[in-house]
Amino acid sequence: MDKFVIRGGNPLVGTIRVSGAKNAALPAMAAAILTEEPVILENIPDVRDIRTERTLLVSMGAEVELGYGRAHHRTTLCCRNLANPEAAYELVKTMRASTLVLGPLVARMGRARVSQPGGCAIGARPIDLHIKGLEQLGATITQDHGYIEASAERLRGGHIIFDKITVTGTEDLMMAATLAEGETVMENCAREPEVSDLAVLLNKMGARIEGAGTSTIRIQGVSKLHGARHRIIPDRIEAGTFVIAGALCGGDLTVSNCDPGHLGALLKKLEECGVQFKTSENSVRVTGGHALAAADVSTEEYPGFPTDMQAQYMALATQASGVSAITENIFENRFMHAQELVRMGANIMVEGSRAVVHGPAQLSGAAVQCSDLREWRRLIFCNEGVIPNPDVELVRRNGEGHALLLLQTKTLRPLESGGADSSLRSE
Ligand code: UD1
Repeated sequence: MDKFVIRGGNPLVGTIRVSGAKNAALPAMAAAILTEEPVILENIPDVRDIRTERTLLVSMGAEVELGYGRAHHRTTLCCRNLANPEAAYELVKTMRASTLVLGPLVARMGRARVSQPGGCAIGARPIDLHIKGLEQLGATITQDHGYIEASAERLRGGHIIFDKITVTGTEDLMMAATLAEGETVMENCAREPEVSDLAVLLNKMGARIEGAGTSTIRIQGVSKLHGARHRIIPDRIEAGTFVIAGALCGGDLTVSNCDPGHLGALLKKLEECGVQFKTSENSVRVTGGHALAAADVSTEEYPGFPTDMQAQYMALATQASGVSAITENIFENRFMHAQELVRMGANIMVEGSRAVVHGPAQLSGAAVQCSDLREWRRLIFCNEGVIPNPDVELVRRNGEGHALLLLQTKTLRPLESGGADSSLRSE
């Protein structure tokens, strides 16, 4: 169990650098399974899911080399000798994205045994579409004792139409199709930047993929892929989170090393709320302390408003004048943070997939529980930003890698005297 004690009320002043995108790094690491040669990945974030995926790949026989010193965000993966094409329950239950190894394993090794992920705090999150897609590529699938077993001598190209847009499903099957015989056409694909980033890496490895970033992706299968070097895109969720933190906490914050082009729906909504910011090619500068106005939001697949920013947006809505209706369309149970916010003094009513926030509310510090990682971020900002003198205990049940975020908040480089000190203690 992690526990953070936060003393808030300080403005955020300075520049903060965004890490590489975890959700782009995870499929990129799985892509290394597709070749015998080394895949060198730069800008890998230092978060728990990445460590879990490394453990998973090592358990299969992968060689992993971590950069050190200035190269500490580099990871080199070599899957020359994959002996054990299995993702065990112990790992999959801690990280659902482990299922990303399913497609690459069947494509390269001809077989895979991957644990069913089971339930999740934010909803059922099945992986039926990954399985259905693999079957369309010619894999034989059996499910037994909580495991999915997939096998195919060689996958063959197919026509996949996703019943529902799925990010990791699109990535899993795109990887599988790179080594299939013939052409695969996938329709109703996820258009997230992380899908496009994976396609860039795969094409560097010798794959023939067109259309990633649109809803139709075409893949001409090849018989072999080779090694490549690739830099992971910046984390758009981390960037968006910092922008909201800057708007909430006052001060003058530059969020650097990000891609504002990936933040379109969020920035448009923040503009509507009255958040003051300026973008450059790779940064967003946000000044806080301005009056905020309520605005409704609905989460959607990219390029819509991301579900992973919904909780942070709710924190902002508690400080905006008026009524904000927040509709969650991607996951069925992603409002756990609302009740924690209510305990801190927010006025929020949840009805099904809609939360109605009346603001602005005067919040006070309280001990709160976090079960969803994005929610955790939101509560931290709330505590930092709007409570005059809070002593807040923030407890997260299962430790995870976003302590990095706290650290970054703590180590902001001040541009002016005064700087940012979020007085955050981790215990
Ligand atoms: C990814 C992101 C996660 C983000 C989510 C939605 C990674 C590692 N994680 O998760 O941070 O919150 O996209 O943007 O990239 N679904 C099915 N059957 C399937 C697959 C999905 O019904 O086989 C449903 C899910 O239950 C959910 C919706 O489709 O309701 C979207 O899920 P999906 O896009 O697959 O989310 P992830 O890829 O798991």
